[in-house]
Amino acid sequence: MSTTPNPPSDDGISAAIAAHRDEPGALLPILHDIQDRMGYVPAEAVPLIAAALNLSRAEVHGVITFYHHFRQHPGGRHTVHLCRAEACQARGAEALIAHAKAELGCDFHGTTADGTISLEPVFCLGHCASGPSMMIDEEPHAGVTSARFDALTRALRTDPRRHE
Ligand code: FES
Repeated sequence: MSTTPNPPSDDGISAAIAAHRDEPGALLPILHDIQDRMGYVPAEAVPLIAAALNLSRAEVHGVITFYHHFRQHPGGRHTVHLCRAEACQARGAEALIAHAKAELGCDFHGTTADGTISLEPVFCLGHCASGPSMMIDEEPHAGVTSARFDALTRALRTDPRRHE
């Protein structure tokens, strides 16, 4: 799956609001839908959601910032998820995560300066016995060493067509 975000579009925001506004607890479904459609929740969504749900802008913004899942800016062309769950931790995930952050030059929920890769945590990818595990877009990888991480992510950065 490409994670290339679409440009801001009121159509995407309005469609997400229309699809969920009558659901109980509509705010989170709306935010998820907008992010699915656009790759992030643009600032212009906040007043539209607030008006639709009769909330303050501060309330909507507070929820967006509370959940790291929601991006406030477009992400990279690819998303690398690193597993932080227990089994992978026992197999060296924390060292791999530290290496990944240094190699990419960004923290979790951040994006490389060249806009290629966004880094996200994930809690279990189903390859617990052969961790540390990671996923590049939709493609899982198990037994990931620092060298393997570098090879996989450098390939993304030098060949932008890969995984798109
Ligand atoms: S704990 Fe990492 S894949 Fe399950």
